[in-house]
Amino acid sequence: MASAGILGTGSALPKKIITNADLEKMVETSDQWITERTGIRERRQAGPDETTSKLSVQAARKALEMAGLKPQDLDLIICSTISPDMPLPSTAAFIQAELGARSCCAFDLAAACSGFLFGITVAEKFIRTGSSRHVLVIGAELLSRYLDYKDRATCVIFGDGVAAGVLGAVEPPSGILAEELHTEGAYADHLFIPAGGTAKPASRETVEGGEHYIKMRGNELFKVAVRSMEDVSRRVLTQAQVCPEQLSLFIPHQANQRITEAVRERLGVNPEKVYSNISRVGNTSSASIPICLDECVRSGRLKRGDLVLMSAFGAGVTWGAVVMRW
Ligand code: COA
Repeated sequence: MASAGILGTGSALPKKIITNADLEKMVETSDQWITERTGIRERRQAGPDETTSKLSVQAARKALEMAGLKPQDLDLIICSTISPDMPLPSTAAFIQAELGARSCCAFDLAAACSGFLFGITVAEKFIRTGSSRHVLVIGAELLSRYLDYKDRATCVIFGDGVAAGVLGAVEPPSGILAEELHTEGAYADHLFIPAGGTAKPASRETVEGGEHYIKMRGNELFKVAVRSMEDVSRRVLTQAQVCPEQLSLFIPHQANQRITEAVRERLGVNPEKVYSNISRVGNTSSASIPICLDECVRSGRLKRGDLVLMSAFGAGVTWGAVVMRW
């Protein structure tokens, strides 16, 4: 049976840059605190005309071009996002129409920062069972739309960005070798947006109370993130019969440079094998891993035949890891 692999990648970032110095003017914080505690120096913020679907289409076109495919070749479109254009319909529907893809299956997937790994794992099943030949998976987040720029615990961390991967059948030994996904809803209240959904519809009161903004218990999440990413990474490496020394690249979700460093150290991965772009883009949630992937592919850091480990953690809480031979 053929394996599923990533045939092309693409990414799109909003134009506007928000530096730590800009944030110093908005909340009581400092460049030194943000850099030391998170590793972030700047992040992107989408303008009014830059929507989740528009940036997704830009990223998708680049990924299709790299894969040598046309929108009509797609059998499935999965948009992983927790910041959709609107609650109804799915952002995937807008992407499909704007790309000019045929009326293939297209849907959104909500797994927060683990979303791209959830997406490629779903795509892999469709490809391996033969029900899809080419699947577009997008990680797209404009979390700045849900950020309270008076809350220093969250506004310094998150940034906007989008990236895409086109998956299709590849010849073994290439392709996805092992994957594992988890959700633990007991931690749902550690990272959430209280209002705007059916539990608490948007009202004057919810808006005045700032309940449409992201709330995060960062300190508690930090420990769960490190433990979960370490654990799931070990398990997929064992499943794939790959030891850390054999890896060419480790791409962790860019949540916090200190989380990356803690996971790397626990796994025993050589520092040179870890990719990090958090200083330039911040935490872009479901776009984080595919933006890294795209940068690595385009810069030649990731080459065909290389073994890559990707590991993520996000709201839900969700976590997962994938090992693949590029
Ligand atoms: N600037 C300056 N000080 C800040 C600050 C900021 N932006 N944010 C928090 N602080 C302060 C706190 O108020 C606290 O002050 P106090 O000691 O006087 O009470 C102090 O810094 C330490 O706060 P704490 O929350 O313990 O900081 P931290 O070292 O845990 O860093 C995060 C905060 C959010 C950066 C970190 O916890 C984190 O990255 N968490 C994980 C997030 C995550 O994984 N989310 C899920 C995946 S997206």
